Amino acid sequence: MSIKEMIAIDNLSYTYPDGTKALDAVSLRIYKKECVGIIGPNGAGKSTLLLHLNGILKGQGVVKISGEEVRDDNLCDIRRSVGIVFQDPEDQLFMPTVEDDVAFGPINLGYDRKEIESSVNGALEDVDMIKAKKRISHHLSFGEKKRIALATILSMKPYILALDEPTSNLDPKGRCEIMQALAKFDKTKIIATHDLDMVFELCSRTIIFDKGRLVADGPAKEILSDKALLEKHNLLLPFCLQR
Ligand SMILES: Nc1ncnc2c1ncn2[C@@H]1O[C@H](COP(=O)(O)OP(=O)(O)OP(=O)(O)O)[C@@H](O)[C@H]1O
Ligand SMILES: [Mg+2]
Repeated sequence: MSIKEMIAIDNLSYTYPDGTKALDAVSLRIYKKECVGIIGPNGAGKSTLLLHLNGILKGQGVVKISGEEVRDDNLCDIRRSVGIVFQDPEDQLFMPTVEDDVAFGPINLGYDRKEIESSVNGALEDVDMIKAKKRISHHLSFGEKKRIALATILSMKPYILALDEPTSNLDPKGRCEIMQALAKFDKTKIIATHDLDMVFELCSRTIIFDKGRLVADGPAKEILSDKALLEKHNLLLPFCLQR
């Protein structure tokens, strides 16, 4: 039996309305339960790619989730399957309290009261923020908001988790806890990040983007130990300042 293709992208290109070309003929497959790190310099197109996975952006080409093409008329189903955690948690938190934010998804999915409570508590435990359940979301620190933003998606139990810079702005302990929460989430994961150490520890596979193009794809440990490849795409630099 073939391994299930969770994400299939064919010849995807995207140009923002101001004329900036962000994705250039990208094709890739991501299989069930893979954990794939998307790396590449600033402006490479990583975030733009993730935004295509649940139809927030729509480029030229084909994006399929579990065999289903992302179209305007199936966005509800696609968004049940793919949970995206944005780079900026401010884009994800809009309810008065943490509990309301994390319950928002389960309520919209029609869970009953008991299911809502257990998914909210479970997601907050996963990101070690259960103590903050009754707090006001916009009073939290940036790192705390990052954790709650992840919880708002975990509470909906998606089949595919797409994360944009999940460890940025976190302290070492917070980073470690987020990585543990991600390791525990045993479904398909796609993570855009500059945290190469996280990719090394967490991801089985790594893809490099540069200038909107997919330029390398392979086992994480192989890609991350290819010094010449990393240097070529500005992912590994010598000391910046002359001593
Ligand atoms: N809303 C927008 N309008 C115009 N251009 C945009 C917009 N968002 C992104 N871009 C451009 O698209 C390209 C890809 O951006 P994207 O945010 O996908 O890169 P990224 O790889 O996620 O970078 P970073 O590592 O900085 O997060 C960049 O040239 C960026 O300037
Ligand atoms: Mg980005």
